[in-house]
Formats: sequence, structure tokens, C-alpha cells
Amino acid sequence: MPPLMRIGHHLLKNRLVVAPMAGVTDRPFRQLCKKLGAGMAVSEMVTSNSLLYGSAKTARRANHEGEVDPISVQIAGADPAMMAEAARHNVDRGAQIIDINMGCPAKKVCNVMAGSALLQDEALVGRILDAVVAAVPEVPVTLKIRTGWDREHRNALNILKIAENAGVQALAMHGRTRACGYTGDAEYDTIRAVKAAARIPIIANGDITTPEKAPFVFEYTGADAVMIGRAAQGRPWIFREIEHFLNTGEHLPQPEVTEIHAVLLEHIHDLYAFYGDVTGVRVARKHISWYTRGLIGSSAFRHTMNQLDSVGEQLAMVNDYFSQAARADHRLRYETSSDAPTEFRSASSHKNQTTQDLPPASQLAA
Ligand SMILES: Cc1cc2nc3c(=O)[nH]c(=O)nc-3n(C[C@H](O)[C@H](O)[C@H](O)COP(=O)(O)O)c2cc1C
Repeated sequence: MPPLMRIGHHLLKNRLVVAPMAGVTDRPFRQLCKKLGAGMAVSEMVTSNSLLYGSAKTARRANHEGEVDPISVQIAGADPAMMAEAARHNVDRGAQIIDINMGCPAKKVCNVMAGSALLQDEALVGRILDAVVAAVPEVPVTLKIRTGWDREHRNALNILKIAENAGVQALAMHGRTRACGYTGDAEYDTIRAVKAAARIPIIANGDITTPEKAPFVFEYTGADAVMIGRAAQGRPWIFREIEHFLNTGEHLPQPEVTEIHAVLLEHIHDLYAFYGDVTGVRVARKHISWYTRGLIGSSAFRHTMNQLDSVGEQLAMVNDYFSQAARADHRLRYETSSDAPTEFRSASSHKNQTTQDLPPASQLAA
């Protein structure tokens, strides 16, 4: 693993970052990823519309009780004054880093010229970054972008310079343009070019799905850190797997069933406590499905589990499934070797997983 990395005055414990994912990187998930090896985790995006500060969803997204440092909160919007106010609001509620979303291709966000649509208007990018940096002088501001608007307009290098001039302290880049959505493989050439020109730390993102892919991306791009999104869904321990591989060149064995059973139970209890039982059970279904994807006998389990509505039934079914799995083998076992996460999540097969598992395009971010 390359030397440690700083964002402002925060020294990260390693160079592995959890990508912001709306509907996924809530406080329980961020906590778990940090516990299982991530050096930093960025929150789901929080709106800059102060009219929504009172909504339960926005208030929950600003709740960082007990969260391990550094607490990075992502804000989204297109109005410099509103973004400045949102940054202030979140810092007053515990944010230690403010991350700005300019990487989101979701229609809902782009129609109001936020997210990756902003990359088209470099002057506005500058005004937003200046306003946010000035509003929260005591915390570092970071920026997340795609490589550009579309393949003909890869303006990441211009955005880098605007960001550096504004005082942004790190730049995360998803190796796709806005027009690319999630299609094709992430490209790392633009990230490499940006890193070569950068004075601030660069965080490389996109399709890092296996322990082997992380050193490849570090070497190819020269990035200071890597950011992992979809591959951490249902596999929060991927961070320790990657860290071990970076340090030793060797793979950790698949985790023990009893360990993952305990990790999942802790995760879903946290979800019940965070969201309340009714929403908690619904949010937990998605995570339980991800944890068990590809495991032996898991599709029948998921089918039934997805229909259960109560905490008691959900817990009983999870306990049953993992107790049976532990009797069959002491380590996680996948249906076929091609289902095992290392291959399952490799760059080439990832596209299939992506279309299957992602929410509809309208809900997708960055
Ligand atoms: C369900 C989902 C929600 C996302 N939400 C956000 C978000 O709120 N803000 C953001 O900047 N990126 C968001 N992203 C994009 C990710 O941060 C990341 O850039 C993208 O998934 C590529 O990384 P990966 O290949 O490791 O998944 C989201 C991605 C997914 C799959």
C-alpha cells in the first residue's frame, strides 16, 4: 500500500474510500465499511435545498452519531448560495469534510443543472466551489466528477484547475463521461492525465471490483486513493481484502460463514435502529440480497425473504439460512466458481451484474 493520504488535516488510515451511493451509503453501511477496512466513506448525497432540511430523509442523512472520523458529507445542487448554505448546515451538524457532487447523471439531478450537468458550465463550477470553500473555512472541501460531459467534452483537466484555484483539497473521478451512464468499462487514461497535472490528491473510481484491480488502478493512474462503490454492496469486507492484497500480493480466503452471519446481523440491527422497524426491514432486504448473491441455495432464500415484513421473521430467516450454510461449510461457498465474488465482480463480467442490480436509470447517480 502506498504511503498514507491526507485530506486537509485528516490523515486517512489507508487509501481505500467507499463511494457515495444514494440509498446505500447510509450511516450503518459507512460504519461497517470503515470497521472492515475502508479509510473513508462518503455519505449519500444531501440536497442543497434548505426547504427539505426538515424532511425525515434529509435529517437522517445529516445524522452522524457515533460515526468514525473523518465524516464526509456529499452535497448536490447548482446554486452557489444554496450550496454554501448546505455546506454550512452540514458542518454545523458534524460534517468534517464537504464533498460536492458533480458526477451525477441522474435525470432528477441533471434537469436542474446539478450533478454532472454542471461540468458543461465551467464558470458556474467555479462559482459553486468558491462559495462552498468560503462558507466552511474550517473543513476541507472535496469534489467528485466524471471525466467530462460526453466523449467529445472530457474537460476534467479544466475542472481540476478550477477546483485547485478554488481551494478544493481532493478530487474523486469516476472514469466515465456523463453520457456514458454506466455503459462500457471505466477508462483510466483521463484519470492518469488529471493525476499527472494535479497538485491535490486524486481518488480514482470506477469498476474496481477485485483485489487485483486496485493495484492495477493505482499503478496505471498514479492516483492517491481508490474509491469503491458497487463492489462493496453486500461485501463490505472487500476493503480488508483489497488492503491485504495490496500489502502481500495474496488473497484472503473467503470469510467464515459465522463471521459474515454476525456482520450481517449487526448490520441489519443497525438498520432497524436507524430507520425504525418498518423502513428498516425494507432497507435490510436489499442488503441481505446483496450479501447472499451467488451463495449456494440463496435464490430460493431471497425469494421468500423478500416477502417478509417483520423484524422477527426477517431475523429468523437470516439465522436459519446462515446456520444451514455453516453446517455445510465453514467458509462462504458460491454456486459456481464463476459466481465467486472475485470473478463475479471482474471488470468484464461486471456489466451484467450492473444492469441487473442497479436501480432504474432515473434513480442512478454518478
Ligand atoms: C446505487 C448508486 C447510487 C449512487 N449515488 C451516488 C451519489 O449519491 N453521489 C455520487 O457522487 N455518486 C453516486 N453514485 C456513483 C458512485 O459513487 C460511483 O461513482 C459509481 O458507482 C462507479 O463506481 P463503482 O464502479 O465502484 O460502482 C451512485 C452509484 C450507485 C450504483
